[in-house]
Amino acid sequence: MLIDTYGRVATDLRVSLTDRCNLRCTYCMPEEGLQWLGKPDLLTDDEIVRLIDIAVTSLGITEVRFTGGEPLLRPGVVGIVERVAALAPRPQMSVTTNGIGLKRTAAALKAAGLDRVNVSLDTLRPDVFKTLTRRDRHKDVIDGLEAASAAGLIPVKVNAVLMPGLNEDEAPDLLAWAVEHDYELRFIEQMPLDAQHGWKREGMVTAGDILASLRTRFDLTPEQADERGSAPAERWLVDGGPHRVGVIASVTRPFCAACDRTRLTADGQIRDCLFAREETDLRAALRADAPDEEIARIWRLAMWGKKAGSGLDDPSFLQPERPMSAIGG
Ligand code: 5AD
Ligand code: SF4
Repeated sequence: MLIDTYGRVATDLRVSLTDRCNLRCTYCMPEEGLQWLGKPDLLTDDEIVRLIDIAVTSLGITEVRFTGGEPLLRPGVVGIVERVAALAPRPQMSVTTNGIGLKRTAAALKAAGLDRVNVSLDTLRPDVFKTLTRRDRHKDVIDGLEAASAAGLIPVKVNAVLMPGLNEDEAPDLLAWAVEHDYELRFIEQMPLDAQHGWKREGMVTAGDILASLRTRFDLTPEQADERGSAPAERWLVDGGPHRVGVIASVTRPFCAACDRTRLTADGQIRDCLFAREETDLRAALRADAPDEEIARIWRLAMWGKKAGSGLDDPSFLQPERPMSAIGG
């Protein structure tokens, strides 16, 4: 098991398949100038599959989520999914994607054994999309979402981040649209993970703001009050159900005490928290031909050092050096 000194057990592994992306969301990446990881630094497909194998057979991981950057930009993604689906025990598998690549890959991913997708979409307005992501690709995301539904990668979840002055008024429109299309919408509070280090707590759109805005148009009843468990999203039934909406209040209602995650970056570093300032190098061990037990031991040790929380509320909080795109969402 992957257990830490606070008694938390990690069962959910996030694997970043690349630090590159075909969008430039302002809360994640700078316009230009970000250094990509070099090819020799990236784990190979074989190395990724081997680490996931160790994680599911020796470390109790039951759920694997592929992230990025944009994971669908990795040429071998379908093959990786297929090989992970063949592992015993077979983990649950999902991809967190900006959706652009889904039109091209959804059917193949489903056939390879992928269970679900989380698609990031913050706005229904193509012009706002272009401002937020610095690319004119709104339609590609909408097409990608439709392809995911059609391929049976369901329930399709949609992640939205609301940014002050840009799309902060869109919560009810997004929810009406999600209900209409049978997508499960979750709002994520903006976190200080942007490459420009421009996040300000004062300006951010909080979970409280989002709920107030949704309640101007919908009746929301809390689902499973006190039963939040490790799921970061708190969920509400929309107008009595069956549709739901979630809010991930990472900043104003952190769920660190119930965190069940461990993360692997595209260059083979373990990070136990999005906000960790330290990483543990698994790639060096892999490339020094360490046996599985040794790699599992290093991973357990890294987890043991996991901090109690993100430290966001501490005046001495320092944003991690790597932006979200290099950590994996
Ligand atoms: N704050 C909150 N969410 C973010 N994401 C990326 N950067 C941030 C941030 N700074 C979201 C993406 C995607 C998921 C991986 O995380 O929109 O949905
Ligand atoms: Fe790309 Fe996701 Fe970062 Fe947007 S948030 S730039 S889609 S990695």
